[in-house]
Amino acid sequence: MKVGFGCDHIAIELKNILMEYLEEKGYECLDFGAYDPKVKVNYPEPGQKVAEAIMRGEVDKGVLICGTGIGISLAANKVPGIRAAVCSEPYSARLTVQHNDANIIAMGTRVVGTELAKMIVDEFFGAEFEGGRHEERVRMISGIEEKYGAKWHE
Ligand code: RB5
Repeated sequence: MKVGFGCDHIAIELKNILMEYLEEKGYECLDFGAYDPKVKVNYPEPGQKVAEAIMRGEVDKGVLICGTGIGISLAANKVPGIRAAVCSEPYSARLTVQHNDANIIAMGTRVVGTELAKMIVDEFFGAEFEGGRHEERVRMISGIEEKYGAKWHE
């Protein structure tokens, strides 16, 4: 599986730790920045880059990190077909894949520690969408995008 990573300038350390962690587990990780903590990167930029890489099929899923995980997920969720979920504990990370078919996990480097972040990505990447009754609900989310002019199909 190919995973796109993105973060702002304050979350580079955690991004690098998680990339290395997933690479050791056999995931192919692509880094969409930020790269240098001294150079400010506003969170919408990496959020958009990773989301668009998923949309284009360059990566399968994404990991986004900023201070809280909120800003970067809000940006990513503007891209049609993206379901980015901010999680600060493993239970939600699993459920957002099983029920919401989330394709991006977002975290806050000011919220979670390194070991908790590893547990969160383990749950996220270990889970599968359950389909069934959840299909219709996820389709309803796409329906909102389509209502406002966005159209993107997997
Ligand atoms: C940057 O200071 C901070 O605002 C950002 O990382 C993020 O927390 C926004 O949601």
